[in-house]
Amino acid sequence: MKKSYLLLLLSVCTVAAFAQSNLISNTGARKSLLLNGKWQYIVDPYETGFYDYRYQELAENNPEAYWNTDQQANRTEKKEHGYIDKYRLEVPGDWNHQQPEFTFYEGTVWYKKSFDFTKETGTQRYFLYFGAVNYRADVYLNGKKLGMHKGGFTPFNFEIPAALLRDKGNFLVVKVDNKRHADEVPTLNTDWWNYGGITREVKLITVPVNFIQDFVVQLKKPAPGEAPGKTPEVEGWLKLAAVPAPGETVTIEIPELKFKKMIPATTQLTQLSFKLPKLQLWSPASPKLYRVILSTSADHTEDKIGFRTIEAFGTQVLLNGKPIFMRGISIHGEIPQEVRRAYSQEDAVQLLGQARELGCNMVRLAHYPHDEKITRLADSIGMLVWSEIPVYWTIDFSSKEVLEKAKAQLEEMIVRDHNRASIIIWSVGNETPVSQVRTDFMHSLLTKARELDHTRMVSAALEVSYGSGKDIHSIDDPLGEFVDLVAFNEYLGWYGGSPDKCRTTSWDTPYNKPLFVSETGGDAKGGFHADSLTRFSEEYQEWYFKEQVAMFKRMPAKYAGVSPWILADFRSPRRNNPLYQEGWNRKGLYDDKGNKKKAFYIMKAYYQEIEQKEKSGKRRINK
Ligand code: GCU
Repeated sequence: MKKSYLLLLLSVCTVAAFAQSNLISNTGARKSLLLNGKWQYIVDPYETGFYDYRYQELAENNPEAYWNTDQQANRTEKKEHGYIDKYRLEVPGDWNHQQPEFTFYEGTVWYKKSFDFTKETGTQRYFLYFGAVNYRADVYLNGKKLGMHKGGFTPFNFEIPAALLRDKGNFLVVKVDNKRHADEVPTLNTDWWNYGGITREVKLITVPVNFIQDFVVQLKKPAPGEAPGKTPEVEGWLKLAAVPAPGETVTIEIPELKFKKMIPATTQLTQLSFKLPKLQLWSPASPKLYRVILSTSADHTEDKIGFRTIEAFGTQVLLNGKPIFMRGISIHGEIPQEVRRAYSQEDAVQLLGQARELGCNMVRLAHYPHDEKITRLADSIGMLVWSEIPVYWTIDFSSKEVLEKAKAQLEEMIVRDHNRASIIIWSVGNETPVSQVRTDFMHSLLTKARELDHTRMVSAALEVSYGSGKDIHSIDDPLGEFVDLVAFNEYLGWYGGSPDKCRTTSWDTPYNKPLFVSETGGDAKGGFHADSLTRFSEEYQEWYFKEQVAMFKRMPAKYAGVSPWILADFRSPRRNNPLYQEGWNRKGLYDDKGNKKKAFYIMKAYYQEIEQKEKSGKRRINK
């Protein structure tokens, strides 16, 4: 690369260094220094380390700032902050479950990690990558601010100027603030606990100067409603970090198919489009993944990708051109036995294993993007996924800034996972109260989702008009006009009357689109047994699902699936019945110790019946 060009490129990079860099995708394939493990911390509810006593943000070089060294220059220097091993938290992991004092803590915690780093020979670029931090992260290295990110469930990265990195004793400090605010996403009120902390992994990534920042490789949809052809066509793109040098090329290889193609790269974004000799399609029954390698003269990366098509066609959901019924379950990103956020491979195995045991072919990852481990595991075991941003309940729909925050989280979710075959639905929200300003807000999120990814369905949990006295309920939410899948939450028999109301109730939607029950459920305290009329007993919940299943069997033909609320009990500050809840939402089909409740077996039997009908080739499987 010509020296002048390289200098120009570096100058652009250095200038941009302190801005939040565009997200780097597929970081699992990158050379990384993992910064997980014990970090020292300071609890700072008054944010003394960030503001002075006049509540002005401290200057970057102010020695009182908690991002600056805590070591005295001499024995006389005043230091009122410090990091010692007595105060350490595990990263990744929310702070709430790690010490009793943190159980209900919402506020700021400063995390600090020291590390040594040996730079590679030649010119490289360095990025600090976070899987997720809830909610706001201010990141400093060796006293310099790298950037600030908001959003509790999506990845982000900041570039580190090479000159800032030391061989020994790098001083990395992250200010994490999980206070809730009306103008954030989510807003003040949610039915889940606001776990705070560096909740997913942290790593320092080394990449070449002009690296492969992001790429998409997908099976091109044939004509609407058609199955992929015998010589399937693949489409996508590859984004370099900067404009390529003259003569650069992008190479894409799929070794198992003995496929290799070189494409001239004249701009930062190179379009990919090619036919493949043959292809084993990805599906829940056959979750085939291919090793896909992408390279340029200076960089290479690879990922395991499944090839499939998904679409809403008329009132059906077609996977690879064939109608599917989604036997789902909703899941929070939480391990109830340890009262903590889920983040690890083992956590993903537990959650998807429980869903598989229920007989599911689909999970609704509510109400925020879950960890990358679970979407990658869904790819490899064949589990369909609904992935969602936390535009939940009473968001400030009138605020343009809030819309931008929601769009940022939507983009981070899609960039991280747009090569995951398991993900078939991007959801832009849940149960948002109908108004014009809300419908406009949600519509622009749906538009943004389609701009970012035209290959998947887009949806949201919509609102229901309960028949005035009549028993026919219509999902006529105006947002239904703009989604691919009409999804709705109903709690007939828990929030509306008793479960026998299901016998006289029917549902429909004016939209000629597939219909999906995205939530339905009732609480039961695991192990509490009584007659079926006794609220919070396992028998009540069992009755609830018996009546629900009978009602599902009367749903209209456009009924394409259900994801009951919810796989397992989860922590919620809204649930304060001192006998049965004690700060837990008890709608799980598993309790918080991992025991199955009686209702589990009702849903399992329903899904087994559907599977049998599918295997026997019956068309109307929910009859
Ligand atoms: C709502 C909401 C869930 C909530 C559930 C409940 O539909 O979407 O987040 O936990 O109902 O009331 O339990």
